[in-house]
Amino acid sequence: MKDYLKLDRVTIGYRNRAHTSLVLTDLSLNLHQGEIAALLGQSGCGKSTLLRTIAGFEPLIAGTIYLNGRIICSSTKYEPPEKRNIGYMFQDFALFPHLSAEKNIAFGLNRLSRTKRQQQTHHMLELVGLTAFADCLPNELSGGQQQRVALARALAPQPDLLLLDEPFSSLDSETTERLIPEIRKILLENGCTTFMVTHSKKEAHAMSDRMGLLEDGKITQWSQQTADPSRVLAACA
Ligand SMILES: Nc1ncnc2c1ncn2[C@@H]1O[C@H](COP(=O)(O)OP(=O)(O)OP(=O)(O)O)[C@@H](O)[C@H]1O
Ligand SMILES: [Mg+2]
Repeated sequence: MKDYLKLDRVTIGYRNRAHTSLVLTDLSLNLHQGEIAALLGQSGCGKSTLLRTIAGFEPLIAGTIYLNGRIICSSTKYEPPEKRNIGYMFQDFALFPHLSAEKNIAFGLNRLSRTKRQQQTHHMLELVGLTAFADCLPNELSGGQQQRVALARALAPQPDLLLLDEPFSSLDSETTERLIPEIRKILLENGCTTFMVTHSKKEAHAMSDRMGLLEDGKITQWSQQTADPSRVLAACA
């Protein structure tokens, strides 16, 4: 199977006035096309930093990131975020405050015809159980409802690579348990490669085919075995 996302000896840190503080050092991982992977780690270990770097919002200090065989980030090359076709669900949701839930979800669907855009938006609203809240602004929604809008917005354009930052952290366990198999089904049907970060072992297990552990700036475990996607898809049906 082909690697769709590959990180090769990546080092990331933040440059302050006087010095650079390293967050992740010499980190390598690979993800096959269509796989759903989860990286587990404690608060502050660098999960969001890693996702932001893959998406193109933070620079690398060393190493190389490959997407579908091409270099998107290295010490000499940088492809801007809009060229990467990566869907990103931010940890703080980052919804547009002046747009309704429906318009937030429809935002990335400009390439579709009006009818298709409406269909896809309504399908996503239904998936996350927010059809009745379509016209609400983000500040009229609860934290969990905002998180579901953010998830629907990231899923809607069916990106090649989807990055999910703590996608279920504000949801109750019942909603999470209902959403995970439905989201897995959509991702597997669309062949969407997905990389999720979380501090919840339970969510990581339920959501992913491949799991890793991030500790002290390094990946200490990264499972090489991946579940057979067709079997997983059958199990979700
Ligand atoms: N913009 C920034 N400038 C400087 N340091 C930062 C910045 N953003 C994050 N950090 C530091 O980088 C480290 C990793 O932060 P990050 O947000 O990636 O952790 P995380 O694993 O996502 O944590 P959480 O589970 O709480 O979301 C922390 O020590 C944090 O203080
Ligand atoms: Mg984080």
